[in-house]
Amino acid sequence: MPRNLLDITDLTVEELDELIRVAEDIIDNPEKYQDACAHKQLATLFFEPSTRTRLSFESAMLGLGGSVLGFSSASSSSTAKGETVGDTIHTVSCYADIIAMRHPKEGAPFAAAQVAEVPIINAGDGGHNHPTQTLTDLLTIHREKGRLNNFTIGFCGDLKFGRTVHSLINALSRYENINYVLISPTELKLPRYVKEEALKKRNIPYTQTTDLESVIPDLDILYMTRVQRERFFNEEDYLRLKDSYILTPEKLEKAKEDLIILHPLPRVNEISVAVDKDPRAAYWRQVKNGKFIRMALILKLLGIEVK
Ligand code: NCD
Repeated sequence: MPRNLLDITDLTVEELDELIRVAEDIIDNPEKYQDACAHKQLATLFFEPSTRTRLSFESAMLGLGGSVLGFSSASSSSTAKGETVGDTIHTVSCYADIIAMRHPKEGAPFAAAQVAEVPIINAGDGGHNHPTQTLTDLLTIHREKGRLNNFTIGFCGDLKFGRTVHSLINALSRYENINYVLISPTELKLPRYVKEEALKKRNIPYTQTTDLESVIPDLDILYMTRVQRERFFNEEDYLRLKDSYILTPEKLEKAKEDLIILHPLPRVNEISVAVDKDPRAAYWRQVKNGKFIRMALILKLLGIEVK
């Protein structure tokens, strides 16, 4: 059975720490890794739009000396003719050594893993999970803060449909002494199943609020998210909720000096462009980290060790 990454809890805390260590070594010594995946092929199958996730995967594989194939929309694959995900994956696993896939249906990568003969990486499944964004987030927190424990993190925006939030909370819940502040409109609160599984079961404290400004001074990390328009059932609700939070330089005046601001991107309106100049804005550094941690992940799932 190939090793997959479908859910972030497929990796132990020791494995997460090891991936971060390898990613940091790749950042420091990229030439050591440049031929590690020679003659290996990564397929990126994106049934949903993407910029960073797909291109960082492709850039990661190219940086390891491998090659890439795939498609970037369902409409250009045989899905448009009515082919099932299972048959598409079965086909691609005849050509590629490893597959990263994104799909609008929750659980699609789990179904894919049933038929694939090569490792499957979940690159986002509907409003459910996004484990490789979480790897990116963990590497960024580690590089910015030097640790993955003892902090207060605020998640702000669409906590209901935001899959990056679900996976990151699942990952962090296994590290020590983290306080969670969940900031969202009432309609977009963190789903109960995430709260139960990740937080309540482990007796981890969290607070919920609708008001970003009142909690900003407490935070060490602020994780902003986009309101996920494509998951809404009606446009009216989206229009009403889309500008619930807009982070501006004024709102950051009361924040800690060493706060870091993360965002998986794309940003729509929730962080004003003026914030980009603030040294606490870490989201463009986060984008860069996404490539290196995916390099480390590809090596791990292919069982390649670089000495
Ligand atoms: C996120 C996603 O696809 O869930 N983007 C990403 O992969 N960096 C966040 C989003 O689309 O809002």
